[in-house]
Amino acid sequence: MTKVLFAIVLTMITFAVALSASTKEAQTTTMSDQVNSIEVDVLAVMDMCNDSYRIDPTYLQALNESGSFIDETDKTPKCFIRCVFENVGIVSEDGKQFNPARAAVIFAGERNGKPMEDIADMTALCATDRQETCPCDRSYKFLRCLMSMEIERYEKS
Ligand SMILES: *[C@@H]1O[C@H](CO)[C@@H](O)[C@H](O)[C@H]1NC(C)=O
Ligand SMILES: *[C@@H]1O[C@H](CO)[C@@H](O)[C@H](O)[C@H]1NC(C)=O
Repeated sequence: MTKVLFAIVLTMITFAVALSASTKEAQTTTMSDQVNSIEVDVLAVMDMCNDSYRIDPTYLQALNESGSFIDETDKTPKCFIRCVFENVGIVSEDGKQFNPARAAVIFAGERNGKPMEDIADMTALCATDRQETCPCDRSYKFLRCLMSMEIERYEKS
């Protein structure tokens, strides 16, 4: 009985994973662009973090397109970034320690039609010597660094 139940649950999980993978492929204009070959559902994490730290989609758009938030004084959207980073394993629970290899996996993809082959180099650079003590600001500045570098390297050539 337990075995049968276990098999059913396993099948359901496998199906759910396959489903979310195909959903991700179908989306072309969200941050899931940059999310390949990872086992966490980044969109679900973003949804969850948006419950606690409400963020307007225009903030994320601006970050992606210009490299920074429109308003950098508001702490809540920065804490959204920290929440997402923590839940996908980019930053430690205390918000201090970055995992650049993990960030490279999460942000892998292409920009301006070019695959970002140096993504690990960029995440490593952005994780180095971070001075911010506020955990939310720290995560935000990491992402600002990464987005600015992506734009500099891929949009301007
Ligand atoms: C990020 O910006 C690039 C370049 O402007 C654009 O092609 C891409 O669709 C944007 N991605 C998101 C998630 O807004
Ligand atoms: C966050 O939630 C609000 C309210 O439901 C919604 O309008 C907004 O689009 C969400 N932000 C993101 C980035 O999904």
